[in-house]
Amino acid sequence: MSRQVVLEKLRSAVPVIAASMLKCDFADLRREIRLLEEAGAGAIHWDVMDGHFVPNLSYGPLVIERLRAVTDLPFDAHLMISEPERYLDEFLAAGCDCVTFHIEAVPNDAQRLLERIREADAVAGVALSPETPVEAVAPLLPSCDLVLVMSVEPGFGGQEFIPFTKGKLRKLRELSPPDLLLGVDGGGRPSTIAAAAEAGANVFVVGSAIFQADDYRRAIDQLICLARDRLPVSS
Ligand code: DX5
Ligand code: ZN
Repeated sequence: MSRQVVLEKLRSAVPVIAASMLKCDFADLRREIRLLEEAGAGAIHWDVMDGHFVPNLSYGPLVIERLRAVTDLPFDAHLMISEPERYLDEFLAAGCDCVTFHIEAVPNDAQRLLERIREADAVAGVALSPETPVEAVAPLLPSCDLVLVMSVEPGFGGQEFIPFTKGKLRKLRELSPPDLLLGVDGGGRPSTIAAAAEAGANVFVVGSAIFQADDYRRAIDQLICLARDRLPVSS
């Protein structure tokens, strides 16, 4: 899908529940993705970890590529890796529709990397960890399609939502163009999603609250209902 088609798909689907592929059944990813699509997930969020930028290892483009043909859902690669510019082309070739890298990994040439992602006709995103101030990405906003606010320390699923990150969402929503996709990632569950939506998020990365549920559809429906009630009317 082209960058414009993916953007239209995501923007028209807010609140988007992006399923974080970390707490899933890695022994049957094909089945997991089919279940997530049937359950109403708006995107598949691939949590790529290199054991260097974050103290955990997950998977790379070889795995993502194998699952590309299973669904037409947008593939959103969250690169929790050092040197994302070095591996960008491999994630694009694997079929990622959106690539989000961490500003902490490329403090200097983030602008160029965002441009490279857009030039490759993919949705360009930048992520910021909880302790990174909004000012670190503010100058980049005109070049971003998506900003991902980490509401947990990157590296692991199943953590608690960090409340002060709502202030970063509010600030980014104020600073950003109305069509910016503002994502929140980590600790998303029924008890936290409404406040994150009220703070300005419209893309919600959720892992545990889906994969620990017996019924993915019921879990996602509940999250969408809770978030939709708090989205700005214009959404
Ligand atoms: C953490 C990842 C998140 C996390 C979300 O580094 O970026 O996507 O897996 O998982 P939950 O929803 O379980 O916090
Ligand atoms: Zn993530």
